[in-house]
Amino acid sequence: MPEFHHFLNQLPKAELHLHLEGSLEPELMFKLAQRNQITLPFDSIEAIRAAYEFSNLQDFLDIYYQGANVLQTEQDFYDLTWAYLERCYQQNVRHVEPFFDPQTHTDRGIPFGTVINGIHQALQDAKTKFGISSYLIMCFLRHLPETAALTTLEQALPYKDKIIAVGLDSSEKGFPPELFERVFAKARAEGWLTVAHAGEEGPADYIKQAIELLKVKRIDHGVRCVEDPQLVEHLIQTQMPLTVCPLSNLKLCVFKDMREHNILELLERGVKVTINSDDPAYFGGYMTENFIAVADALSMTKTQAIQLAQNSFEASFLPTAAKATWKQQLQALA
Ligand code: HPA
Ligand code: ZN
Repeated sequence: MPEFHHFLNQLPKAELHLHLEGSLEPELMFKLAQRNQITLPFDSIEAIRAAYEFSNLQDFLDIYYQGANVLQTEQDFYDLTWAYLERCYQQNVRHVEPFFDPQTHTDRGIPFGTVINGIHQALQDAKTKFGISSYLIMCFLRHLPETAALTTLEQALPYKDKIIAVGLDSSEKGFPPELFERVFAKARAEGWLTVAHAGEEGPADYIKQAIELLKVKRIDHGVRCVEDPQLVEHLIQTQMPLTVCPLSNLKLCVFKDMREHNILELLERGVKVTINSDDPAYFGGYMTENFIAVADALSMTKTQAIQLAQNSFEASFLPTAAKATWKQQLQALA
């Protein structure tokens, strides 16, 4: 591995935009399909990988929801989460705030508790075995009605302490944040923080709605903010974090070429951008691969890499004291 790539791998990092269902590697998908006697529409692991050619978000989502069908038992959700955390350990990702999509599972008859208990146990074990800290974020599927999100919120209440925030994901265009104002208000009233996907495929106005109506603490993706210069100024002034996912943006054709990606331009302008992997099993890489893809295409400097890592902790939901400790450790690498 070239020296700078090794540096990027060793850099302590936090991951803030990761869908656990999107970390389901074809090998584990096959194994779980066998274990649960589910027939996959693919003959081999190679055939699964070959199907991962997407021209937009919806193309991907169709395959992503299909893949999630193999997840049935608490052990399956544990194994899924644990496999992701092993990758984090290998890449020196020291803190994670993953998403899960309960509706993808409860709509198939899997109890909410089965999903969250499996995930939670793996997160606990990663703290003990790898020293990786974590908070869990529950996402609502925006292609479904707000009433369904409200039902999900009710199902989550017995597990309130295992969740730090709610988010909003799935098909963006035509499903603006304003449709979810009530359920997000209810989530905040229950003490949860809020985040939302916005400005991935949808317009800059969806970012504004997420901030103003859903009172989010971070914007997931947000790369289309550049279409509204006033909004960019606002993001800088308020230091609103953007959890950017470079390889995802490339695979879903948000940018045609990594050399056209705006992440380092936003970083230099003072926007609190972070690097994340989104759905690594589908988009070709975890945290280090995302850092490397940006570094190689856009000539990232060591100072920029350290700033991106520092942003990842600052944009996290960790307590102020923990953030200060990570900042000190990262500044020592400069
Ligand atoms: N965007 C929206 N929904 C998603 C994504 C994404 O990148 N990944 C998984 N669900
Ligand atoms: Zn996402």
